Amino acid sequence: MEFVERRAHALETLAAEGVFDNDDHPLIGVLDRQAVRDRVRELQDAFGGPGRRLHTVAAKAATLVPVLGWFAEAGMGCEVASPGELAMALEAGFDPSRIVFDSPAKTRTELRHALELGADLNIDNVQELERIDYLRPDVAHDPARPAPGIGFRINPQTGAGSIEAMSTASHTSKFGVGLADPGTREMLLQAYAARPWLNQLHVHSGSQGMELKQIAAGIAAVYELAEEINARLGYRQVDRLDIGGGLPVNFASEETAPTFREYRAAIEDAVPGLFDGRYALTTEFGRSLLAKAGTIVARVEYVKEIGGRQVLITHAGAQVATRTAFAPESWPLRVGLHTPGGELKDAGSGQEGAGLRSDVAGPCCFSGDLLTEDVELPAAEPGDLVAVHDTGAYYFSTPFAYNALPRPEVRGYEVDPDGGVRWEGIRRAQPVEEILAESGGAAGAPRAAHR
Ligand SMILES: Cc1ncc(COP(=O)(O)O)c(C=O)c1O
Repeated sequence: MEFVERRAHALETLAAEGVFDNDDHPLIGVLDRQAVRDRVRELQDAFGGPGRRLHTVAAKAATLVPVLGWFAEAGMGCEVASPGELAMALEAGFDPSRIVFDSPAKTRTELRHALELGADLNIDNVQELERIDYLRPDVAHDPARPAPGIGFRINPQTGAGSIEAMSTASHTSKFGVGLADPGTREMLLQAYAARPWLNQLHVHSGSQGMELKQIAAGIAAVYELAEEINARLGYRQVDRLDIGGGLPVNFASEETAPTFREYRAAIEDAVPGLFDGRYALTTEFGRSLLAKAGTIVARVEYVKEIGGRQVLITHAGAQVATRTAFAPESWPLRVGLHTPGGELKDAGSGQEGAGLRSDVAGPCCFSGDLLTEDVELPAAEPGDLVAVHDTGAYYFSTPFAYNALPRPEVRGYEVDPDGGVRWEGIRRAQPVEEILAESGGAAGAPRAAHR
């Protein structure tokens, strides 16, 4: 069974189970585990060849411990950027040697913890390097374990993509050290010469909106820097390159494009020496591994007509589709309309002649709380379901607490060849008591601190 068929089948099963009859939580996020497995295999196959590979999943794309566990089981590593993500990665079962710690704002405590664990560490700036010097990375890690990859994050300053807020290779991006800035190259050459434990370089040009050519240009700049450092030192001190993530996702149709193979071809074209086995390669993909495997399904509560538009008021809005609500041009989503039983009424919004000009709105109290605007949909009715496609990364896993709306339930699913659907509980829906406790209510309030 192909992904689209599996997704339709899973949705009908949820509807038959009465999941959307629950007035407290008429909304769920689901992830197709087979689709995630397929993407991991595509990545591993596309990067075949000599030399070590450490493919990590960017935890920020799905901060859900069981989902991270799927990647640990598949032999991947995990890229983390906060103490919470690090704790999740450890709980999900990643060996610390397969964890990469990024973050532009690492505290001394976080640095010490990462070094003691033996995780790879990407240094954001010179002040952070001074803190690491003090912590003595050459003696901090267990000598029985392989030395971790430690090195600078480089901003290649090769230019922004189509989404400014997601671009980390613009001239003034806050991440890493600016390679084209005066003095940076010499500073790096001297820093590596003075510290034999600096053995890695890192680049991540941005997430979504970057063209493959731009990503490849950033990787080429860092590869050339590694060659220069090694040539100056006379031996291969830098033997690992962390080339980040950022493969864009196609949100416009069911097609997966570009593919990991196309990504490899683009970087191999720009940096032919990258895959010859001299450098161990680390990757940090998030969105491209997860987005298309995930779907938000929400009940339509009301349907009204305003100003000539059919407006569907659903339970999915900015709390689960935050970027789409605040920057709809950059983050458009496809929405399918289904009957209360889960049968498809319309495969994807926006088809000419499909019906009524419609907005699909969420439950939040601001008017930009829309999943999609002015698309054609068939006549909808209360109790129908909307399926919000390609939302497996950075959507339901990364909720926004506006209006004190609860974090929705998340489940994984697998469809057996005989059509049976096996569900895996990933996160329960957040109960109101928990919202109250987190908001300084009786159960959670540190009252004394406010006196
Ligand atoms: C350092 C780093 N690595 C990897 C990623 C994952 O990017 P993507 O989900 O676009 O693959 C991000 C995303 O922000 C990042 O900041």
